[in-house]
Amino acid sequence: MAHIEQISPELTWRIRRDVLYPKQPLDKIRLAEDDYGMHLGLFDQDILISVLSIFKSENSIQFRKFATLEPYQGKGYGSELLNYLLKTSTDEGFERIWCNARKNASGFYSKFGFVETDHSFHKDGLDFVIMEKILKNK
Ligand SMILES: CC(C)(COP(=O)(O)OP(=O)(O)OC[C@H]1O[C@@H](n2cnc3c(N)ncnc32)[C@H](O)[C@@H]1OP(=O)(O)O)[C@@H](O)C(=O)NCCC(=O)NCCS
Repeated sequence: MAHIEQISPELTWRIRRDVLYPKQPLDKIRLAEDDYGMHLGLFDQDILISVLSIFKSENSIQFRKFATLEPYQGKGYGSELLNYLLKTSTDEGFERIWCNARKNASGFYSKFGFVETDHSFHKDGLDFVIMEKILKNK
């Protein structure tokens, strides 16, 4: 049975590297902002399978470095983690959630109601688009 818990930034780094930046050394994976963020991990039978990092501002919440270990992709773990984040962000009263989506992952976020904004950019050989979802409290 999978469960989600808050983890230290260091625990995200290996999955971040292996999934998102496979050619980079581990010490390049750290974000300057990591110490100010909150990091969530989804575990199944004590294996850390999917991670993301959250950075909160007054009304909005950004998540970054969302990654599921490759052998476990497409099995619903990422959806479980993102649904958890959407629910907790809504419950905490945030109005907007957003991310810099890799263009090739935009279809994944669309399924959760994220829409592409007009802001897109190219970084490190990859195309990104900012995607956002307005959160509605009851
Ligand atoms: C994107 C990612 C985090 C999703 O995690 P996951 O555990 O694979 O997600 P799920 O298994 O819950 O996928 C749910 C659905 O989205 C689909 N999906 C997964 N990645 C997708 C993508 N890049 N584009 C479109 N659909 C995608 C799955 O096929 C699945 O479809 P289904 O419900 O019709 O079966 C994971 O695939 C990953 O780490 N990808 C590589 C890194 C990456 O692109 N990260 C995002 C950077 S912005």
